[in-house]
Amino acid sequence: MGLLQDGDAARQWFAFIAPGYDTVVSELFWSASLQREGIERLELDAGDRVLDIGCGTGETISHLPPRVAAVHGLDPSAHQLHTAAEKDELADARFVQADGHRLPYADESFDCVVSVGSILYWATPEDVLQEAFRVTKPGGSILVMGFHQRRFSPLNPVLNVQETINSTLFFCYDRDEATRLFQGAGWRDDRHLITGPAWSPDLVIATTAQKPV
Ligand SMILES: C[S@@+](CC[C@H](N)C(=O)[O-])C[C@H]1O[C@@H](n2cnc3c(N)ncnc32)[C@H](O)[C@@H]1O
Repeated sequence: MGLLQDGDAARQWFAFIAPGYDTVVSELFWSASLQREGIERLELDAGDRVLDIGCGTGETISHLPPRVAAVHGLDPSAHQLHTAAEKDELADARFVQADGHRLPYADESFDCVVSVGSILYWATPEDVLQEAFRVTKPGGSILVMGFHQRRFSPLNPVLNVQETINSTLFFCYDRDEATRLFQGAGWRDDRHLITGPAWSPDLVIATTAQKPV
């Protein structure tokens, strides 16, 4: 288990980095182009209700197409939510301070769930994916972007250092693990894209899946 896969540790970490989050962390790991690439894989319809789990400062919400009707951003970090709530372009979104392991929503409340860069901090990702499944309507979809677990290579010491740091701090997973997690939570038709920022093009795994009708 990664050191930051713990609610308190993650909250303290985000209290520390929140002031520089948008300019440093978001730009480096979860850039606008990477997020748009993920969101384009969802077929969002006009009027859809969308939940963003681990919305942080609202960067992911700012990349959603304007046709979606209602966006809820959920995050346990008061510091991250404070930055999100101050952004004029997110004035229509609703923000909730809560943990993804216990979503404060009724069954089948949303057409779509998105989550970018948050699964790495979840103590039990399978539980959050089950919660996401519960609050999604039949026929709805999910997009989750997290850190891809890459194989160590004797020829690539830089990759080995990156992987050691990532797996010490975070939950990282590969396609097989993603299939096990998503299908175990009830999701079907899971598809996984290996992608990443220009400096590390296989750092990220982006999964889309559907809730059966
Ligand atoms: C790297 S940020 C990503 C924020 C945003 N999605 C973006 O792309 O800019 C990860 C966010 O996940 C949140 N997070 C950590 N643990 C969480 C949990 N158990 N449930 C929901 N969100 C969580 C953190 O507070 C943080 O704001």
